[in-house]
Amino acid sequence: MSYSKSDFLYEGKAKRLYKVEGHDDLLWIEYKDSLTAFNALKKSSFAGKGIVNAKICIKAFESLKAKGVGNHIVRVVSDREWVVQKLEMIPLEVVVRNRVAGSLFKRLQFEEGHVLETPIVEFYLKDDEKGDPLLTDSHIRAMNIVSDEKLEELKVFGFKVNAILTEFWKTAELDLVDFKIECGFDKDQNIMLGDEISPDSCRLWDQATGKKMDKDVFRFDLGSVEESYNQILERLNK
Ligand code: ADP
Ligand code: TMP
Ligand code: ASP
Repeated sequence: MSYSKSDFLYEGKAKRLYKVEGHDDLLWIEYKDSLTAFNALKKSSFAGKGIVNAKICIKAFESLKAKGVGNHIVRVVSDREWVVQKLEMIPLEVVVRNRVAGSLFKRLQFEEGHVLETPIVEFYLKDDEKGDPLLTDSHIRAMNIVSDEKLEELKVFGFKVNAILTEFWKTAELDLVDFKIECGFDKDQNIMLGDEISPDSCRLWDQATGKKMDKDVFRFDLGSVEESYNQILERLNK
């Protein structure tokens, strides 16, 4: 079956969404070359950024799929375009952490890089206007975002993704410090991976040197983010 891109639906910070001709249950996703941080207060781009992220994400999704974690991709139509299953997105950013960095470093009394005894899962409200605030289980219950049962399922899902992704990034000699995923329900209420997994959404430190290779390179002006992302893809292609 061939698919055709139809009406424009939405432009986000990293992707554009379109309808798919004749398929209300699908979406057409196009990766942009833009790079944003701190809720788009800091903006940049580099040619091919969307392609690098899409390629990296496909590899991550494949390794997860091989271990039973489903994702939304239906068809890869170009280097930066996919047809995906339209999911009932859960308006939460699911963050799993193996080491202390980023906002956890700001909140807790640990040194940056401290290895957590067991991974931590956190939920942030996906709401740019409110600055994606950290939520407790009680907040999630009060807002009736998902049932207690589905929230527990989401935690287990996050930890499973973490275990698989940790091994995946090791193949590129990268240490998975933390990451964010966005999940949704398919028609049978199964939790599926939506959105993307890339150096935009994972903290990745070089195993040998500890060098930061993810979006923190851009956030904190640590060097060439283009070189860093391309190097990650090259390592995964080896
Ligand atoms: P943002 O909206 O945070 O700026 P993007 O530019 O990456 O992010 O836009 C992608 C949007 O599409 C996000 O809002 C994401 O939640 C949503 N999305 C991703 N995958 C799916 C899917 N399979 N079904 C429905 N919505 C999705
Ligand atoms: P944090 O330490 O800033 O809370 O980020 C945790 C992880 O989530 C880190 O890997 C970066 C990722 N992340 C996103 O993908 N999108 C976001 O908007 C934020 C704030 C973090
Ligand atoms: N995802 C947010 C943005 O793109 C925040 C961040 O990654 O720092 O602006």
